[in-house]
Amino acid sequence: MIELMNISKTFNAGKANEVKALQKLSLNIEEGEFVVIVGANGSGKTTLLNLMAGTVIPDTGSITIAGNDATKLAEYGRSKWIARIFQNPLLGTAADLSIVDNFRLAALRTKSKGLTIGKNEAFKKQVQEKIATLGMGLENKIEQPIGTLSGGQRQALTLLMSVMDECKILLLDEPTAALDPRSAETVMRTAEALIKEYKLTAILVTHNLKDAAQYGSRIIQMGEGEVLKNISAKEKAKLKQAELYEWFG
Ligand SMILES: Nc1ncnc2c1ncn2[C@@H]1O[C@H](COP(=O)(O)OP(=O)(O)O)[C@@H](O)[C@H]1O
Ligand SMILES: [Mg+2]
Repeated sequence: MIELMNISKTFNAGKANEVKALQKLSLNIEEGEFVVIVGANGSGKTTLLNLMAGTVIPDTGSITIAGNDATKLAEYGRSKWIARIFQNPLLGTAADLSIVDNFRLAALRTKSKGLTIGKNEAFKKQVQEKIATLGMGLENKIEQPIGTLSGGQRQALTLLMSVMDECKILLLDEPTAALDPRSAETVMRTAEALIKEYKLTAILVTHNLKDAAQYGSRIIQMGEGEVLKNISAKEKAKLKQAELYEWFG
């Protein structure tokens, strides 16, 4: 689904503050995989996601997405394949607009799965049904400005809106880092359920080793712009939590 070949990216090349963010990195992610990426701060995790999303273009190497050469394709040219969730819950939604209007915007943006805009009341009913699946009781608050909700509620709604797009790939960059533990768990469970339901290919960057153990099929550890460890789903299933901490802690 995503093929990175020999990717290098240097920021501020030739200057005193030069950073080799990625170095000859190759990675192949199959359709339907749920890859977890761990690694120290500054190891290149976000840059890797930026490369997939098209907000950073590599110096060398190639990127293929769904069989298409995407190496030089701008972000908007890839949005039909890719949805992205950031650490900050405020980034995904418009605070002053109601829940239902945020969904209307999301539905307008691309061809949405299972939402037809049309008549107002019918649209509201569809949105309520979708939101009810989160099990957060938000289906009764769809006229409320989204800015009045908690970070966890907002992040769960952002997830729901983004996977309703026609996208096939979900990029999650520390989606729970700004949340309290309970909201974090709700958001991760929601993500996992949506990834299954919509048969998405997913990539999760996390600092939380418990999440790394619990979610996803494969674990990759990054260090200094390279893949240090690449543990298959089969190997991961055999690893005990303690071993995981030993490896990645
Ligand atoms: N746009 C940029 N300009 C300059 N340096 C950058 C830029 N983006 C990332 N970097 C640098 O590249 C390295 C990798 O960053 P990043 O991918 O954000 O790491 P991680 O997400 O693993 O913490 C860091 O040293 C960071 O400071
Ligand atoms: Mg990062």
